[in-house]
Amino acid sequence: MDSLDFVKVTEAAALAASRWMGRGERDGADGAAVERMRETLNEMDIRGTIVIGEGERDEAPMLYIGEKVGRGGIEVDIAVDPVEGTNLVANGLPNSIAVLAVTAKGGLLNAPDTYMAKLAVGPKAAPYVHLDATVSENLAVVANALERPVGDVTVVILDRPRHKELIEEVRAAGAKIKLISDGDVDAAIATAIDGTGIQVALGTGGAPEGVLAAAALKCLGGGFMGRLKPRNEEEVARAKEMGFDDVDKVLEMSDLVKTDDVSFVATGITDGDLCRGVRFFGNGARTHSIVMNSQNRTVRFIETVHHLRAEPSHRHH
Ligand code: FBP
Repeated sequence: MDSLDFVKVTEAAALAASRWMGRGERDGADGAAVERMRETLNEMDIRGTIVIGEGERDEAPMLYIGEKVGRGGIEVDIAVDPVEGTNLVANGLPNSIAVLAVTAKGGLLNAPDTYMAKLAVGPKAAPYVHLDATVSENLAVVANALERPVGDVTVVILDRPRHKELIEEVRAAGAKIKLISDGDVDAAIATAIDGTGIQVALGTGGAPEGVLAAAALKCLGGGFMGRLKPRNEEEVARAKEMGFDDVDKVLEMSDLVKTDDVSFVATGITDGDLCRGVRFFGNGARTHSIVMNSQNRTVRFIETVHHLRAEPSHRHH
């Protein structure tokens, strides 16, 4: 399967979502991107199953978990997040992306729609960190692996009250912090890309987003670990139903991505660490995407010029 084909899918989602930038309506951006992503997937010669999507069948009409997509052909499992960072798009803030990961059947963890504690680092630090180590231990080994003082390590953390203690621990260890309002997939990936100025991503975010981040880091040789953080008994029950006998288990890369052949694709909606956002010009737009594959360890950046159909003009001359 050629992962390059899937860039059309995230491009379509990003183009649709970007029309909603700054309109303050998060559902509008998401709805438009979901619809376009689904249409584009359904034009492909695949027999795809959505394993991570917009939610359970009863709560999501499109791209729900278990939905079949494609016209027929090679059997694949697909994880999507048509708009990763809906608030970012609604507020015109950086780092929103349209995201997709694809593997052969059974290649991705089917994560319940709950929270996950996460740890992401780039390739050099990956062998030395562990989710069960203390924050200061992890930051010390990252600093060592990157041959720099802890003070020159920057940790990205979602700006949430639940991270108060974590933020204090990182500060006590002496590292820098970048607090973000949303978008922990982009943040996790940024740890494995030189020049982003981000070395570690820590904290609790969405579990489905964790699987997507793991897929990307697998392609980049980075490290990712997670642990489910159900918020209530119902979520614990849901996790058990999905096959998590031990909900507290540390999920390593091989638990999250169970194959050596995963592809990850993302297109920038707003400008970000990885990709430029969608840029419009007269009757067209330019998108910027990243396409990666873990087996051949390729990382491609793809810039595409889309000639959009002109809207009928109502202007009188
Ligand atoms: P959405 O695009 O679904 O809004 O997710 C954005 C996000 O910030 C994720 O990147 C992150 O994993 C999750 O939300 C964090 O959840 P919460 O906002 O509940 O803390």
